[in-house]
Amino acid sequence: MTYPSILSDLPELPLAESFALTEAYNLDTFPEKVNLGQGVYRDEECQSWVLPSVRSAEEFLHQQHLNHEYLPIPGAAPFIKEAQNLVFGPQLAQKENIRSVQTVAGTGANHLAALFCARYLRPKNVFISDPTWDNHQLIWETAGPGIERKLYPYYDPSTRSLHFDGMTAELENSAEENDVVILHACAHNPTGIDPTQTQWKKIAEIVAKKRLFVVFDSAYQGFASGDPDADAWAIRYFYSTFFGDASLSTSAIPAGMIVCQSFSKNFGLYGERIGALHLITPPSVSPWGAYTHLVRLIRSEISCPSLFGARCVHTILTDLDLRSKWIEDVKTMASRIQSVRTSLKSELENIGAQGDWDYIERQIGMFSYTGLSKIQVHRLKQVHHIYMLENGRMSLSGLNGNNVAYVARAIKDVVDRH
Ligand SMILES: Cc1ncc(COP(=O)(O)O)c(C=O)c1O
Repeated sequence: MTYPSILSDLPELPLAESFALTEAYNLDTFPEKVNLGQGVYRDEECQSWVLPSVRSAEEFLHQQHLNHEYLPIPGAAPFIKEAQNLVFGPQLAQKENIRSVQTVAGTGANHLAALFCARYLRPKNVFISDPTWDNHQLIWETAGPGIERKLYPYYDPSTRSLHFDGMTAELENSAEENDVVILHACAHNPTGIDPTQTQWKKIAEIVAKKRLFVVFDSAYQGFASGDPDADAWAIRYFYSTFFGDASLSTSAIPAGMIVCQSFSKNFGLYGERIGALHLITPPSVSPWGAYTHLVRLIRSEISCPSLFGARCVHTILTDLDLRSKWIEDVKTMASRIQSVRTSLKSELENIGAQGDWDYIERQIGMFSYTGLSKIQVHRLKQVHHIYMLENGRMSLSGLNGNNVAYVARAIKDVVDRH
């Protein structure tokens, strides 16, 4: 006997691409397989890397025999203070118009931002870069029903660079007051291309003119340049331009701004799910009311956040030795990726693979946006057991001295054929 259920009408959905790729990679028995799919750092042996600063913090915390009580709803206050210091720098972080909460990593921050904007800002549109981290679409689809998701051009395949004119024209022509625009703070995922400071200033002018609500997504602070302060430049510039000075004309100030911060990549704390959301209001407006609404959303979603990641990040950022160890760790990751870029480019050139491979070295952060087509990516997987996203994004930390020549030969093969 079968019982009817409305749930039987639900079609089966595919698993998110990067997770599906990792599953397929794990099942693959080919000895030379290479995983360039998931955005996680790997060491020179292509193994998971616990940052030495994180290892030391873990040992320290273990010796403290800490309890496991609930955190307050907005999270651990000492951690939140350090999260603010890291993004805004210690001076701006003192400002009264920044209010922050702990989140379930960068994804949780983005999700909370979407929920909050959908309920209280009520924008007509959210502008998302084309291409982007694939979860932006899903997050705004689920948390912001009724808000139209619009793409702004970001990447110009003909020049393999930022499509700055397309981006600014789309915002100028289509965005309306209070619309949300998501901007990647640094090391844009998946293109590895960031605006220059001059371009950021121009984007800020459009934001002011149209009074747009910026949601900065900061998932790679430290990964772009190896210097967390340098990588926070755009966020600090936007803060100072719009929210730092009470004498600014109110007609040029957006309703507010949000920064979504992840500690997954720059602390290697992927599975600990640690992040923060920073809400900024205009200098004359108290953020308190809006903050209490964020807190209420957190209460209904997760009640309160988890402990370990917050303790770990706080310990590292407040201990002078550990902090400088962490800065070294960030540099280690950024420079290994940079050297992998150089090796891949020279391997491709040495074997005479068709094309101009300079872009591999120009791009920033964890990824290379290769421009390989779906068919080429498919062949890389089927024939060469090399796994990467269909849009041609390659996570470079899956490369090392042992496999870079193999990957270059495989790329030459797929480029020669298609
Ligand atoms: C642009 C961007 N934002 C946010 C995230 C979320 O990261 P997590 O939730 O692991 O902190 C990622 C992860 O890949 C990302 O690339």
